[in-house]
Amino acid sequence: MNIKLIRASETMTLRKRLLRPHLSAAECVYPGDDDLGSAHLGAFVNNEQIGIVSIYQKGLPDREDKCGFQFRALAIVEASRNKGCGLTLLHAAEKFARNKGADYVWANARITAINFYRKANYSIDDNEFIVEGVGPHVIVNRYFQ
Ligand SMILES: CC(C)(COP(=O)(O)OP(=O)(O)OC[C@H]1O[C@@H](n2cnc3c(N)ncnc32)[C@H](O)[C@@H]1OP(=O)(O)O)[C@@H](O)C(=O)NCCC(=O)NCCS
Repeated sequence: MNIKLIRASETMTLRKRLLRPHLSAAECVYPGDDDLGSAHLGAFVNNEQIGIVSIYQKGLPDREDKCGFQFRALAIVEASRNKGCGLTLLHAAEKFARNKGADYVWANARITAINFYRKANYSIDDNEFIVEGVGPHVIVNRYFQ
C-alpha cells in the first residue's frame, strides 16, 4: 500500500460513499478542508484509491496548553478492511501531525469504530454524543511521548 498527500477534493468520492452517503457532495466539504494547516492522505493499492484520512490543525477546546491535531473522515473501502490498512493510514496521519509539532491527536469516533481506536492505543472518552444522520460518537485521543 502506498500513502501520499492528496488534495481535499480527491477525498470527496470516498468521503461521501463510505462516510456521508446521506449528504450531498457539497455537504461533504468540511470547514478547514482547504486551510494551509490541513492535510489529506490517500492510501493506494495498484493505483486504486482504497483509503482516506484528513488532518486539521485544531486542538480540543479544554487543552489549549498543548498542540492538538484533529483527524476526520478516516475510511477504508469495504474490500480492503481488516487487513491492517486502516491502522497503517492512521499511523501515517499521526506521523504527519507529529512532524508538524502535535502533542496529541484526537477524533470524533463512531461507536462502531471504538475497538479500532482502542487497538491503536487511543484513550476513549465516556461521553457519547450523536452526529445527526450518522449515529453515536465519542472523542478519542492519543498523546505522544
Ligand atoms: C474503521 C476502519 C477505518 C478500520 O480500517 P481497517 O483497515 O478495517 O482496520 P485494520 O485492518 O487496520 O484494523 C486494525 C485492528 O482494528 C480492528 N478493527 C478494525 N475495524 C474495527 C471495527 N469497526 N470494530 C472493531 N475492531 C475493528 C481490527 O480487527 C484490527 O485488530 P487486530 O489487529 O486485532 O485484527 C474501517 O473499518 C472503515 O473504514 N470503517 C467505515 C468508516 C469508519 O467507521 N471510519 C472511522 C470513522 S471514526
